[in-house]
Amino acid sequence: MFHAYGLMFLTDSISALCAGIQYNQFKSPKLPFLSELQINSVILQKIANQFNHFYMSVHKEVKKVTTHQLQEMKRRGEKISMLTAYDYTMAKIIDHAGIDVILVGDSASNVMAGYETTLPITLDHMIYHASSVVRAVDRALVVVDLPFGSYQGNSKEALTSAIKVMKESGGHAIKMEGGREIKDSIERILSAGIPVMGHLGLTPQSIYKFGTYTVRAKEEEEAQRLLEDAKILEESGCFALVLEKIPAKLAEQVAKSITIPVIGIGAGGGVDGQVLVTHDMLGMTHEFSPRFLRRYASLYDSMTGAFQQYIKDVKSRDFPNENEQY
Ligand code: KIV
Repeated sequence: MFHAYGLMFLTDSISALCAGIQYNQFKSPKLPFLSELQINSVILQKIANQFNHFYMSVHKEVKKVTTHQLQEMKRRGEKISMLTAYDYTMAKIIDHAGIDVILVGDSASNVMAGYETTLPITLDHMIYHASSVVRAVDRALVVVDLPFGSYQGNSKEALTSAIKVMKESGGHAIKMEGGREIKDSIERILSAGIPVMGHLGLTPQSIYKFGTYTVRAKEEEEAQRLLEDAKILEESGCFALVLEKIPAKLAEQVAKSITIPVIGIGAGGGVDGQVLVTHDMLGMTHEFSPRFLRRYASLYDSMTGAFQQYIKDVKSRDFPNENEQY
């Protein structure tokens, strides 16, 4: 089997060798064999470029993440990384960084549109976000949330919504919140060849039923029901499952009791992968600070600083300067 990363390593090594040879020649110009080495280095660099070109063309096809690959990752114990994206530019950066799964979450309702809950976002809004993401992505699997009201009615409505998302956005799979109550819909969507990711625990589309965003399934009865629902989703054919904000021990138990990957958010480290809302992990949404959230940047502060500097430069006539005009 072709190993793209092995080839990438090889081309990097050849490039490094070339750089080394050229550096040595520069340092010791008196050594007689170096001019030959210089020629060799040019040839080697050409070979490296050819390999890189070949690698880039193969890479696109070979490394596309599939639902099957995610299940393989669980089997061999490799953790799955997932982040949300709702627009082209962010999706491009996340995909380039090497993420496995991009979720076009209905959290777009909060993050992009400023609504208090995920309920107002529509199917057409989700398709707009998802198609922007799909246009940016070369490698990651793109999963799109079916929004509130687009699948809860009956399985026919669910199938119609899922087909619309797949057809109009180009996404690779859909995600739905709920357990046994949406079993028929999941099976009907799957029968049309559309992969489904489940979502249990804190399911924000039911926020008015729960009343709060606190940790779910702390009591034995709810934990037992969640375990059963996870098994039902697996049996129905879901390729993966998101568990949101439940005790780590229960999440680990779920991950061990089913063969499909379990991706957690606020569900501890005993599951098969992790998902975060990108704007939260980048520190762009500074009002939201749940315990499970690790911030990898403080973009709210650095962006505010950049905007303030720009305003200052405009007001003081420092921007644009002579080099920044025609
Ligand atoms: O909509 C979303 O972003 C989600 C994640 C929190 C899993 O469903």
